Amino acid sequence: MLLHKIVEVREKINEWKKQGLTVGLVPTMGALHNGHLSLIKKSVEKCDRTVVSVFINPIQFCPGEDLDKYPRTLDADEKLCNDAGVDIIFAPSPKEMYGEGHILSNDFLTYVIPPFFYTNKLCGKSRVGHFDGVCTVVNKLFNIVQPDFAFFGEKDRQQLIILKKMVKDLNIPVEIIPCPIVREESGLALSSRNKYLSSKDREDALALSKILFNIKACYKKGMKDPQILAETVYSFLNENHSLEYLEFRDGDDLEEKKVADDNTIVFIALKIGDVRLIDNVSLK
Ligand code: PAJ
Repeated sequence: MLLHKIVEVREKINEWKKQGLTVGLVPTMGALHNGHLSLIKKSVEKCDRTVVSVFINPIQFCPGEDLDKYPRTLDADEKLCNDAGVDIIFAPSPKEMYGEGHILSNDFLTYVIPPFFYTNKLCGKSRVGHFDGVCTVVNKLFNIVQPDFAFFGEKDRQQLIILKKMVKDLNIPVEIIPCPIVREESGLALSSRNKYLSSKDREDALALSKILFNIKACYKKGMKDPQILAETVYSFLNENHSLEYLEFRDGDDLEEKKVADDNTIVFIALKIGDVRLIDNVSLK
């Protein structure tokens, strides 16, 4: 069932809660692919009812980012969700979420601001305010849907870690279920932004997973020094690549790792032409 209004969702949720049914929420920005579907399948398996939100959240895009050209494919998304057994597809307008004129500056909107220690690094460094927008919208979705479980992909590992922290710090009664990264056979992590890649770019995009898998293989052979491991990156890069970061960080609190261990996540962000892609791997 496709719903656009918060009151309609609330009505359904109240009905389900009265019947004692468990509710799973899968927040998305649409353009659904098999990565999203893996989260949806998990929720449908685990919960009595599943809500998928499809909302391109304007307040998590920075000026100059791809808000206007972000792929919008609601009809196809609706069909995928229906086939997967989703009970509600919640696709609100920006006005429905943020009000008349949808004034988006934090002079006019109550924001949920995650700790600076978690947001001043990795993607937060170049995407200033991005995680404030993510936490604010996810908090709103939690309040609207009141899920027992919420499903997030490890593809956006910094986002997942920050959202777990938000739920803990604010005592939000929801359990976050992390879901593994879904990749193409080539190793490329599925992403709605892969649609921006030309076929040449797609080839170049394989560098992300190749770099990460190579580092993991070196770690498994006994190399523990992040600096030395990071140097292996250059043999995978060409003139179409611009490396934004390659960092070794703790999987719980994003602290920098001086020595790699099994709780280390290697994070990478790479620009292929104009398209910015991210990926990560756990060394465990
Ligand atoms: P979006 O990029 O649409 O992703 C929705 C969810 O799908 C996220 O939890 C993301 O980590 C997961 N996902 C995307 N690609 C994946 C892959 N290849 N394997 C596994 N999971 C994958 O992330 C967002 O939207 C937004 O920031 C949102 C949380 C919806 C808030 O607006």
